[in-house]
Amino acid sequence: MKGVVLAGGLGTRLGPLTRITNKHLLPIYDRPMIYYPIQTLVDAGINEILIVTGGNWAGDFLRLLGNGKEFGLRNLDYTYQDGEKGIAHALALAEHFADEDFITVILGDNIIDGSIRPFVDNFKNKNRGAKIVLKKVEHPERFGVAQFEGDTLVRIVEKPIEPPSPYAVTGIYMYDSDVFDIIRDLAPSERGQLEITDVNNAYIERGTLTYDIYDGWWTDAGTFESLFHANTHIARQHIASESASPDKNILS
Ligand code: G1P
Repeated sequence: MKGVVLAGGLGTRLGPLTRITNKHLLPIYDRPMIYYPIQTLVDAGINEILIVTGGNWAGDFLRLLGNGKEFGLRNLDYTYQDGEKGIAHALALAEHFADEDFITVILGDNIIDGSIRPFVDNFKNKNRGAKIVLKKVEHPERFGVAQFEGDTLVRIVEKPIEPPSPYAVTGIYMYDSDVFDIIRDLAPSERGQLEITDVNNAYIERGTLTYDIYDGWWTDAGTFESLFHANTHIARQHIASESASPDKNILS
């Protein structure tokens, strides 16, 4: 199993913060945003990781992360996405890196405070297909949303006005090597992008998409509200654990 962090895009929803840097380099409490998805992959036992980025600040990722020593990695791979053509377009750049292996893909602004290791381990035992991770949320209309018939996932609808369920599709996906053929067959959406939701719907049509439901805390951090939410949650967590430690009581 290899890992891919997608960290391109213009981050226009976070302007003017993103006028002079990449969204994924903005701080979440005491670390740049991209540290969190990398750590999520490493905690799941994945140590071959590709960072896909783009735009004007791609070099900053290399300066920040180097070979991933801070994460206990021996090496990090990087690739560059030309233009803003969508999540699935960015993922297509990972084909050479994946080299027929299974991949776990995480969007660079997705932050969790638990582990995806059980999902990854479960997917490793499969022969083929894809897996998505769902999370029950209060406002699913901001995300890709799962539509069920009974327990069967029949479709994912991207940012529906009327969500068919409270289950958002998180930016954590697992794929076999068919994903690259599927992306080659995709047509751009109305906003001119290759959509990851179309990739997942193609797996549903093939009958090879499975899902897990994540019970822990999850957010993306691509809007001001979610960026603030991510910062306050992670800050509170740090402060709680530091004040619980007897020799490091920051509240005293
Ligand atoms: C993307 C996906 C969406 C998913 C979300 C998770 O949306 O298109 O299906 O629910 O990531 O973070 P975006 O954040 O690019 O609008």
